[in-house]
Amino acid sequence: MPLVGGRSALVLFVTAAVLVATSAPAWSAAHNITAILSGHRDLTEFSRELTATGLADDINGRNTITVLAVDDAHMAPLKARGLPRGTLRHVLSLHVLVDYYDDAKLHGLPGGSADVSTLFQASGDAPGSAGMVEIADRRGGRVAFAPQDAGAARGTAVFYVKAVHQAPYNISVLQVSGVMSSPAAEAPSSSSPDPSRLDFSDVMSKNGCGRFAGLIAATAGASAAFDKHTRDGFTFFCPADKAVEAFEPTFEKLRADARLAVVLYHGALGHYSTQALRAGHDDLATLASDDAGTTVGFAVHSAGGKVTLVSATHNAARVTRTLADADPVAVYMIDAVLVPFSLTANASSPPDLGPSESDGRSGRKDGGDGRKTSGSAPGWPRRGWVASALVFTTLLTAFASG
Ligand SMILES: *[C@@H]1O[C@H](CO)[C@@H](O)[C@H](O)[C@H]1NC(C)=O
Ligand SMILES: *[C@@H]1O[C@H](CO)[C@@H](O)[C@H](O)[C@H]1NC(C)=O
Ligand SMILES: *[C@@H]1O[C@H](CO)[C@@H](O)[C@H](O)[C@H]1NC(C)=O
Repeated sequence: MPLVGGRSALVLFVTAAVLVATSAPAWSAAHNITAILSGHRDLTEFSRELTATGLADDINGRNTITVLAVDDAHMAPLKARGLPRGTLRHVLSLHVLVDYYDDAKLHGLPGGSADVSTLFQASGDAPGSAGMVEIADRRGGRVAFAPQDAGAARGTAVFYVKAVHQAPYNISVLQVSGVMSSPAAEAPSSSSPDPSRLDFSDVMSKNGCGRFAGLIAATAGASAAFDKHTRDGFTFFCPADKAVEAFEPTFEKLRADARLAVVLYHGALGHYSTQALRAGHDDLATLASDDAGTTVGFAVHSAGGKVTLVSATHNAARVTRTLADADPVAVYMIDAVLVPFSLTANASSPPDLGPSESDGRSGRKDGGDGRKTSGSAPGWPRRGWVASALVFTTLLTAFASG
């Protein structure tokens, strides 16, 4: 179901893009920022947000423009903050300079610096000189971008990483090291957040699960799927930052639907208190589903007050801390990323088993006691193949050593 949700979100997104395309005013749009960024996988989130905030249209409608793009890893903290759309638009519009700067121009600034106007200033929402960005060619050839703010307050500066796209003097896309922000850009805008919503991503970010909160934010369809269920009772198991860090290289190689399934696998339907978890011997239903659309759960094992979760593919994670337990939502920290399916079969690039299956700490195998949970067995043809390969290898090893 959540996968279907993800797909329909994609369909909606595409439909929206088509609607935008057909209803767009007849600019002589010389460029299409979405198309330019589509060739850069690590800029996907940035591109998505440009579209979501309507900035992509503004960019396409202008000439002589420079877009400061931020990669997915550095967009994650921004996304995790869950800023209202209006505020997000202000912050991102600071990243669109209304002048053309490419690599050569950055390193040949007269006097070594320049003040450039941005789309934030052009929006009319920026007070005073807020909305201007100072470009400075610093010692050692490092180029910094710093938003000017009202008064002495300066926003956070970021650095030039590389040129992504240059079409003189129409549009230049430069990658920068992070998101620039400033108090003026983040000043409350008209739209306000939903106060009734538990900020699970805030709870995670403040308690050592910030990386996982980032994964939720960076994975299309994940936040929305969780949001839909948090009111009716929900339990999050967030892997600690270290575990997520070790898993990230593997995660990046997964297909988009598999990435979504991994993230959704860490949320169980229903509110489980610590006591309920310790009572154990329950299979928890999660929001993740397999290719056939069947929900995949995991098993809870409890012994001596210690709770272990065992995935459908027998990788295990220990519950290490309670981060929040306020009916209807509980958030627990776990010490490994849980994976609901075979990682090798789902890699979009050459297989790399990664830490969750090879590293002893984050991928402890359960001694065969990991119970199968509903829907984990049927309809997974490639998993069967992998299993046969494993059996074959085991037999070979047994034969060789015997
Ligand atoms: C821009 O490119 C994207 C992706 O290639 C496409 O979906 C969209 O329709 C294009 N928009 C315009 C205005 O041409
Ligand atoms: C810049 O835009 C103009 C007019 O829109 C176009 O004729 C020209 O080819 C563009 N230049 C580049 C490098 O794309
Ligand atoms: C690949 O991932 C999907 C989830 O997106 C899962 O349903 C499927 O079973 C996985 N394939 C294998 C062979 O494990």
